[in-house]
Amino acid sequence: MRIYDIIDKKRNGFELTDAELEFFVSGYVEGTVKDYQASALLMAICINGMTDAEIMRMTLLMAESGDMLDLSCFGDLSVDKHSTGGVGDKTTLIISPIVAELGLTVAKLSGRGLGHTGGTIDKLESIPNFRIELPFDEFINISKNCGVCVCSAGKELVPADKKLYALRDVTATVSSIPLIVSSIMSKKLAGGAKSIVLDVKTGSGAFMKTNEESEELARRMVSIAKRAGRNVSAVITNMDRPLGRAIGNSLEVMEAVSLLRGEESDNDLKEVCITLASELVSLGKGITYEESRKLVLKVLNDKSAYNRFLKWIEMQSGDISVFNEGSDFGKADFVSEVIAKESGYISSVNASGLGICAMHLGAGRASKEDIIDYSAGAILLKKVGDYVEKGEVIARLQSSTVSDHKKIAEQWLDNITFSKTKPESQPIIYKIIR
Ligand code: URA
Repeated sequence: MRIYDIIDKKRNGFELTDAELEFFVSGYVEGTVKDYQASALLMAICINGMTDAEIMRMTLLMAESGDMLDLSCFGDLSVDKHSTGGVGDKTTLIISPIVAELGLTVAKLSGRGLGHTGGTIDKLESIPNFRIELPFDEFINISKNCGVCVCSAGKELVPADKKLYALRDVTATVSSIPLIVSSIMSKKLAGGAKSIVLDVKTGSGAFMKTNEESEELARRMVSIAKRAGRNVSAVITNMDRPLGRAIGNSLEVMEAVSLLRGEESDNDLKEVCITLASELVSLGKGITYEESRKLVLKVLNDKSAYNRFLKWIEMQSGDISVFNEGSDFGKADFVSEVIAKESGYISSVNASGLGICAMHLGAGRASKEDIIDYSAGAILLKKVGDYVEKGEVIARLQSSTVSDHKKIAEQWLDNITFSKTKPESQPIIYKIIR
């Protein structure tokens, strides 16, 4: 078999056999298939697509390219949630203790953020002393004792995706549904959970810009997970605006904490978390969505989910005293305001543009090597649909390393559109695909 012939076959629009896909995936991981050959094949896949059978095979080959997590000690109670990536998405921090409190286990490996999207591991690492790398035994023990443990996914998990994603990132081959499906689902299958809920973000801050694309991605991922014997559903959620009011690591942790404490919180964030958690509980316990939602609301309202959150953070050595009143956590040395230059309704925002502003403040990485300023980020004081007067403060920016915020405040305004009339309100949850 020759990689040349496999590239040629896909370029001509034909379906690849299991053996050909295996030749490609294992050859690329081992280095016998070169970057330039893999790039050509990826581009041919981008242009000509893949059949469901090809995607399934590619997903399994990628999942099996490294360690597969064995969560069988949790029976059918292990659950996982995955977001396709957005701005201000702190849902893992909120959902995990909720579902753990309801008897499910979140033994989860998670990633760091890159570009305008944040990563759960960075948010957790902003909590002083929090350990994101644990020996496997300890990871399982904490999951058993607390119902939740989130660690950083090491290089042993799906090495094929690490290599392929890095190549896709520099060859304009990220935005291909078959490649996104195999990338995400290989990691979810290797992650070992029995039930998986996928949060497929759609809109200006997401990979998928339209509902049609998101729905296709969601359906394909659901189909793969089912064929692999997992319980699964996908929730298509709105990413035309950042989720919640905080963007940036410690700011997002504090937003999650205040929601769990029952303090006044952003409605969008609350609804997305309640929906995703209810879906997970429904899949994990085999009960209806309505029954699950009641349970989720109960543990949120009686604060038992918050107590579970504190236990979780403590078990991973995080310093929970930073959540006390008067703590400096979430505060920064340099703070500035974004001021509206005109009066009107905020009719739309470019969510990825706002994420990039937060990244420029130090909250994210433009390249893998960049160091994060955990206190950096922004608070949205006004959101889409709000009326603002000229001169009113619409957002607060903060950082501890970047001191000149003027240009970033200008950029922030460039990503906001004002109108004289109130915009039609857009739902936060578009659809659930089961
Ligand atoms: N997230 C992933 O993990 N992989 C992709 O290909 C796109 C988004």
